[in-house]
Amino acid sequence: MCGIVGYVGNRPAQDIILGGLRKLEYRGYDSAGMSLLEDGEIQTVRAVGNLDHLEAELESRAGGTATATLVRPATIGIGHTRWATHGRVSVQNAHPLAADESRIHVVVNGIVSNYMELRTQLLQSGCVFATETDAEVIAHLIATNYSDDLADAVIQTLDRLDGYFAFVAMALEEPHVLVGARRECPLVVGRGEEESFLASALPAFLAHTNRIQYIENGEIVVLRAGSVEIRDAAGAPREREIETIEWDEETAEKGGYETFMLKEIHEQTDALAETIADRTASGHSVDLSDSEVFDEDILRGVERVTFIGCGTAYHAGLLGRAAIEAWARLHVEVDVASEYRYRSPILGPGDLVVGISQSGETADTLAAMRLARERGARVIALTNTMGSQATRDSDAVLLTRAGLEVGVAATKTFTAQVAAVFMLALRLAELRETLPAERIAELVAQLRHMPELVEELLERVGPAVEEAAEWCWQAPFFLYIGRQEGVAVALEGALKLKEIAYVSTDAYASGEMKHGPIALLDEQTPVVAVATASPVLSRVVDNIETVQARGAKVIAITTEGDATVAPHVATAIPVPATDPMFQPLLATIPLQLLAYSVARRRGLNVDQPRNLAKTVTVE
Ligand code: AGP
Repeated sequence: MCGIVGYVGNRPAQDIILGGLRKLEYRGYDSAGMSLLEDGEIQTVRAVGNLDHLEAELESRAGGTATATLVRPATIGIGHTRWATHGRVSVQNAHPLAADESRIHVVVNGIVSNYMELRTQLLQSGCVFATETDAEVIAHLIATNYSDDLADAVIQTLDRLDGYFAFVAMALEEPHVLVGARRECPLVVGRGEEESFLASALPAFLAHTNRIQYIENGEIVVLRAGSVEIRDAAGAPREREIETIEWDEETAEKGGYETFMLKEIHEQTDALAETIADRTASGHSVDLSDSEVFDEDILRGVERVTFIGCGTAYHAGLLGRAAIEAWARLHVEVDVASEYRYRSPILGPGDLVVGISQSGETADTLAAMRLARERGARVIALTNTMGSQATRDSDAVLLTRAGLEVGVAATKTFTAQVAAVFMLALRLAELRETLPAERIAELVAQLRHMPELVEELLERVGPAVEEAAEWCWQAPFFLYIGRQEGVAVALEGALKLKEIAYVSTDAYASGEMKHGPIALLDEQTPVVAVATASPVLSRVVDNIETVQARGAKVIAITTEGDATVAPHVATAIPVPATDPMFQPLLATIPLQLLAYSVARRRGLNVDQPRNLAKTVTVE
């Protein structure tokens, strides 16, 4: 995701900010920029692409000499790496963003979920917007609230913002001050000798100091070279201890987690919040208008939806089918892209084909999308990567906002895809009037609540997963079972175990067991059952009993409060209760962690499993 670096001190801010941004490259970005304040002027440089482009731009502004710089003497500035979510990848949309004739500059991470409403109000009051971003409203609000105290203006601005974000602001009139604020997205302060750093992650300044202060949710921070004040949302001062941390740079890049995959599993809360928040900001309906898609008449006229994708993305499509069939009462097809591309599908203008691909570059998915388009379907790219080939080979884009995923095994991008297909299903149901408005509002409210439930689950699920891993990790084969939406979860859990733990797995609709797979079962076979709340839970319990009768031990993903499954299984791992359709989002997480734990116990490199590539650009 995006990266923030702010510096105020006694050394050239440009070099420190550029160095800091380089340390945040692992987070992924598509454009970058910085603003430096010196001699009553703020200068900004922005560039699309990697930091070499930004550096080249800095050099060209300084007359083309490699050593000269834009405003080298400047000792205060802010920098940013942007991972596009709202607005194209362009110089214009890159941060820092400015307002009030360049007197106020900000860099922002995350999403302002009520930006549409704020933008309309600000436009009415005469503000001129220069970008397509949600974040620009922050610059204009600060400018509107500013008289002579940047911290006050930030406090007033925070009051108006909904969403998940962190930002740092700089004002021309206060050349020695940076003010940061955070809601959910991280911000951390570094304390040097007569210099202060502010960044979205520690690696940005670890080369300069390891004395840090964490900014808590809802706080603001006022940085000067020799002082740091932390305040609550009302402006009252807060004490914060300075901690000395001993992480090396690699540990810092992983946010203190032992692997990228574990970090990314824990980032699912943010990935979901960013994917869902502003699109459900009304609290009762889904707004996909940020995604260029979705002319209402076109969506209303859809007669059939087809999901295509590979691997994990295909599993998200299975859940899309369940939700669209149930809520929007449309025909839905799902296929793996490598098969679909060689079929002869019958398609026409009433067909909506959704190509799901986190990378947006998977060769088979792109080929299948092209085929669908040639045959007259409208094609949506559901992707995590703005500007990827899929976004260019489609009629519309529905973006997940999970940020860069480094681990080869898809985790946070999967749950973000699932959230996106649920939103598409709800939007179709709304337009087709296949659900009462109250029911849609209830489902939207639950969807908005998912990030919190995921966080709660991640906080407490560890011991149950470890209990299961402890007894099953050496088994040579695992069978995963489920019914209905639980089949997609079983397939995804089994894929995770295969790819990172190199354990042979099979995943089945559990009603099919008696038609063959049951022959595989013996005392040595762990069976992982997705047994969360659903209209077919009693059938799943029957299947679990059948398994038990063959001597196999069961790990079941259950729903909190259920008493029907636990008596039949060796380890029950409960997830919070929700509408049955949302259970897969939660049930997947313990299975990611189970695969992870088995792989680690086997001593494997989970981030880069053998034979696999993160992006499969060949057939
Ligand atoms: C998931 O863990 C896998 N690494 C893989 O199945 C992946 O989902 C698949 O290759 C599709 O990638 P995409 O989403 O980038 O198109």
